[in-house]
Amino acid sequence: MARRKPWPPTAPCKPNIWVYDPSLMNLVAITLLRTDVPADVFDRMADILTESERTRAQRYRQEADRRRHIIGRAALRILLSERLGGTPQGIALTSRPHDKPCLAEPPAIPTHFNVSHAGERVAIAVASVPVGIDIERDAPPDAAAMAQAWFTPTERMRVDEAATDADSAGQAFLDIWTAKEAVLKASGVGMAAGMRGFTVPPASPRFGPTRTHGDTRFDGYVVAHFEALTDYRAAVALYGAARPLRITLANADTLLADAAVRSVRH
Ligand SMILES: CC(C)(COP(=O)(O)OP(=O)(O)OC[C@H]1O[C@@H](n2cnc3c(N)ncnc32)[C@H](O)[C@@H]1OP(=O)(O)O)[C@@H](O)C(=O)NCCC(=O)NCCS
Repeated sequence: MARRKPWPPTAPCKPNIWVYDPSLMNLVAITLLRTDVPADVFDRMADILTESERTRAQRYRQEADRRRHIIGRAALRILLSERLGGTPQGIALTSRPHDKPCLAEPPAIPTHFNVSHAGERVAIAVASVPVGIDIERDAPPDAAAMAQAWFTPTERMRVDEAATDADSAGQAFLDIWTAKEAVLKASGVGMAAGMRGFTVPPASPRFGPTRTHGDTRFDGYVVAHFEALTDYRAAVALYGAARPLRITLANADTLLADAAVRSVRH
């Protein structure tokens, strides 16, 4: 039976009282997309954005950044409309600069999401608990120095142990980096806010808890890595307990077609 409880338990978005049925949506749905789509598909994705989102997209100096943002935002709108009903354009999102994007109004079903892009990929996670996702392609050439600057001693040790060659040091670095960024994004506080405030568990497809070092903002998160297509590393973090992941390789064309079918049925 549905029971009332305050949601979300932390406050990355505006706290609201939602009806929460844990049996409803236990999965964490991860959708992976390519951004190198044909021009006509790209234009149709861009049409899904609101006027202000399109204006904002024009501010990206790099074409690749603009493209990733537009595909990610359009796909997110389609996925949210699939879950919540209505049209992709009708989904109301918050848009404060530097804040985690959230639904502007409490939805009928608890719904949290997060987007990440890298190279020619976009990853979108949708869950009923606060969620963060990170996908990366390029390890920094100076992984050890970067680890020194950003990681906790335990994490630095993992990079050092893996550093038999530059490649494996880079991969170890990315595994930790993606996990940390996923946790920071789940909590909504952003990168600057305490990379060293917590230690992530060793890279694994099974969720493991983060260990905090006095910074209570990061208490209660679990993090796991998932297969994200060749050459990419990716991690997802959740507030609360582990949940099954459902990973879908989608393409923009199919998402658009599905959205069109739903809008005809409306
Ligand atoms: C959020 C942040 C971690 C993203 O890092 P990144 O590696 O550049 O980008 P990713 O591709 O993984 O993620 C970008 C997406 O995260 C989401 N996002 C933005 N701010 C976020 C936040 N505070 N928390 C969680 N997710 C956030 C957005 O959906 C964004 O994509 P979009 O703009 O196309 O919608 C980083 O930009 C950050 O720390 N931002 C907050 C603070 C800030 O912006 N400072 C800038 C100087 S004042």
